[in-house]
Amino acid sequence: MKTLTLRSGTRMPALGLGTWKSDADEVYRAVRSAIEVGYRHIDCAAIYQNEEEVGRAIGDALRARDASREELWITSKLWNDSHAPEHVQLALEASLRKLQLDYLDLYLIHWPVALRHGVALPTGPDDFIPLSELPLESTWKAMLKASELNLAREVGVSNFSKRMIEKVSDTTGQTPAVNQVELHPYLQQDALLAACHQLGVAVTAYSPLGSPDSAAMLRRRDDVLLTGHPAIEQVAERHGATTGQVLIAWALARGTSVIPKSVNPGRIAENWAARDLDLTPADMTAIAALDRHDRKVEGKFWFLGETYSHKTLWDE
Ligand SMILES: NC(=O)c1ccc[n+]([C@@H]2O[C@H](COP(=O)([O-])OP(=O)(O)OC[C@H]3O[C@@H](n4cnc5c(N)ncnc54)[C@H](OP(=O)(O)O)[C@@H]3O)[C@@H](O)[C@H]2O)c1
Repeated sequence: MKTLTLRSGTRMPALGLGTWKSDADEVYRAVRSAIEVGYRHIDCAAIYQNEEEVGRAIGDALRARDASREELWITSKLWNDSHAPEHVQLALEASLRKLQLDYLDLYLIHWPVALRHGVALPTGPDDFIPLSELPLESTWKAMLKASELNLAREVGVSNFSKRMIEKVSDTTGQTPAVNQVELHPYLQQDALLAACHQLGVAVTAYSPLGSPDSAAMLRRRDDVLLTGHPAIEQVAERHGATTGQVLIAWALARGTSVIPKSVNPGRIAENWAARDLDLTPADMTAIAALDRHDRKVEGKFWFLGETYSHKTLWDE
């Protein structure tokens, strides 16, 4: 199995299963079939509102001895309404209970955005807390404390820019193990990837297939789906692979971990087989040409009012 070695020396399985938008009634089967086929890494989050079903699947898979707890890599994420240091451990423990686990392998700050406690998604400007009032550094310190209590083996961040990573690292002397960010051929983020590697931060690529099932929810119109792009189709044809497999193999070839979501057992198996696909330098060059800074998860929902903006969120 391909793994990414984190700064601590811990090895994280490179290919995992995403669970955002996986309906509660579908995600149990998805996680069970992923573990049966060989996946050992499951990406979860409190806000996905399906951790109980994911936990039932993990619990049943462990009892069926489809995998051992030590082989599994379970990631979850702190929601934005629990950034206050006194809420971090409680939020982590709530995820653990739902996931039927006594520790996480990785716990991430989901977004560099703080919401009032109890607000799942903001409906107006008053739902936000400015970072000047609740700085990321204090949330990060609470994350480090939770890892000292062995509630999470590793802690990291998600949707963080280079500057944000440097800020939390400089304040505490401890750098996040992982930054989970959107990465696919339409949004390649070479500079952020290089900066993370230089800082010793492993990178996980989210929405690696271009997140087609979030378009309606995020009120976004996708023109050419990545999985239907002629250049990706050509690479797929050359290898007798599918376009989904090419996109996953591309993420692995860039040294990132990657977490494609599927609730379809056929595609779950298809995506798993992508780890055996080796792309050539010519394939990589052809795919590099597709970069167009096209974010699928723009974070527009954080821009109600003036507390957060595209510029402050993405540092670009
Ligand atoms: N940290 C963050 O802020 C953040 C943000 C976004 C995502 N994530 C994580 O990253 C995971 C993946 O991202 P995502 O869910 O946005 O999108 P994605 O994995 O890029 O795409 C998922 C979509 O692709 C379809 N699909 C799966 N395999 C396929 C294949 N081989 N060929 C064609 N279509 C295929 C899925 O349909 P079926 O399910 O019907 O197969 C689903 O519609 C999430 O689930 C979540 O765990 C994290």
